[in-house]
Amino acid sequence: MFYHIITYGCQMNVHESEKLAGMLENLGYVSTPKKEDADVILFNTCCIRDTAERRAYGNIAALKKLKKNKPDLIIGVCGCMPQQDSSKTYLETKMPHVDIVFGTHNLHKFSEMLQNCLKDKKRIIETWGDSVLQPANTPMTRTSGVNAWVNITYGCNNYCTYCIVPYVRGREISRPMNEIIEEVKQLLKSEQYSEITLLGQNVNSYGNDLKDGTTFAKLLENIAILDGEFRLKFMTSHPKDIKDEVIDTIAKYKKISRLIHLPVQSGSNAILKAMNRRYTREYYLERVNYIRQQMPDAGLSSDIIVGFPGETEQDFLDTLSLVKEVGYSNLYMFMYSPRKNTPAASMPNQIDELVKKERVKKLIELQRGLMRENAKQSIGKKYRALFEEFKDGVLSAVTDCGKLVFINNASKELVGKFGEVLITSAKSGRLIGELV
Ligand code: SAH
Ligand code: SF4
Ligand code: F3S
Repeated sequence: MFYHIITYGCQMNVHESEKLAGMLENLGYVSTPKKEDADVILFNTCCIRDTAERRAYGNIAALKKLKKNKPDLIIGVCGCMPQQDSSKTYLETKMPHVDIVFGTHNLHKFSEMLQNCLKDKKRIIETWGDSVLQPANTPMTRTSGVNAWVNITYGCNNYCTYCIVPYVRGREISRPMNEIIEEVKQLLKSEQYSEITLLGQNVNSYGNDLKDGTTFAKLLENIAILDGEFRLKFMTSHPKDIKDEVIDTIAKYKKISRLIHLPVQSGSNAILKAMNRRYTREYYLERVNYIRQQMPDAGLSSDIIVGFPGETEQDFLDTLSLVKEVGYSNLYMFMYSPRKNTPAASMPNQIDELVKKERVKKLIELQRGLMRENAKQSIGKKYRALFEEFKDGVLSAVTDCGKLVFINNASKELVGKFGEVLITSAKSGRLIGELV
């Protein structure tokens, strides 16, 4: 018996697909890269932007034919999309070839649902509204190479006005610190993972709901002091909550990655206010300065939305100037996509799609130029790096400050190990290096 999982969206979904794979393997299923061979096909969906939703619907609809030729095939749809009532109803009524629909809060019940569906030969359409802590014993088949994802919080309380996540993922809940540390200890003991990435929509608010003084800084410290050579990463940091204490802890421990993902979204104070981000451009730049003071070698990455309702040409220019001023190692750039029932979707002055496209193009060009410059400056420098993957004869490594380096003529035995790399050249922002 074979299974095939198609995952859309963020790392949270990637990790949840590992849990679904774990449950399927416990039931005796084996992974297949070919949909045609599968007995169970799962779509783990995302609804952050319209494009993500449309792609998923298109691919789910395209399976009708396969199901017709193979009536015993089980098709499941889960993740963030069915957490919206409208999507759940659409899947139920318009996609009768889908057998199981479930959400993010009852994901750990998937084995049971699958077995019931097979036994009773009945469709199962069930999502839960409230966030829950997924049980610590949920099986997992990890698929991210030398990296292991570890959930620290579920849900989000921030209600940025453009964002669907708090509506589909529910209120923020933190996992108890001892449970997280136990999971990390087990991962390190297995000696299969050299990198641990802590996951939460806003990792900096970890512990707020536990009301026992637990903080993200303490969690970072308690993991960083564990034995063994490993890299500790985390995402995502909301700028409003990244306290000095967190930055100081990162600076104190070499094991914590010096690439900090700190999404700014916009460089304009008017837009930041309308987005309900609860910080200003000046505050954000002050946080960046503090990070650079404590860790001159730190790399920063960010997310930006262009074309938020009411964004004027000047607002957009403010975003460009902030991007230049910070100098990001990596930037993820999006055109605003209205999401049903979020406050921004009904704001006046929605921006024309063509304007959004032009703006995102300009931003991409700016960032490409900055990255090319930045890459040139790395030539001749040495960095400590983790060798992450070996593909087509090329070893890829990521430095402590988050630079991706490609190394030719190296051994694949190095994957999972740390070492020194020297940057020898850069082509269109791609760094080439050698071992030292
Ligand atoms: N919790 C994380 C990730 C949120 S989703 C955070 O706060 O950073 C990842 C990114 O998608 C966001 O940072 C934002 O830049 C983008 N995004 C969210 N909603 C969007 C929308 N409606 N349209 C376009 N981009 C959006
Ligand atoms: Fe969405 Fe904002 Fe929460 Fe991130 S912090 S998930 S952007 S509401
Ligand atoms: Fe998408 Fe859900 Fe992540 S909406 S971005 S998969 S939390």
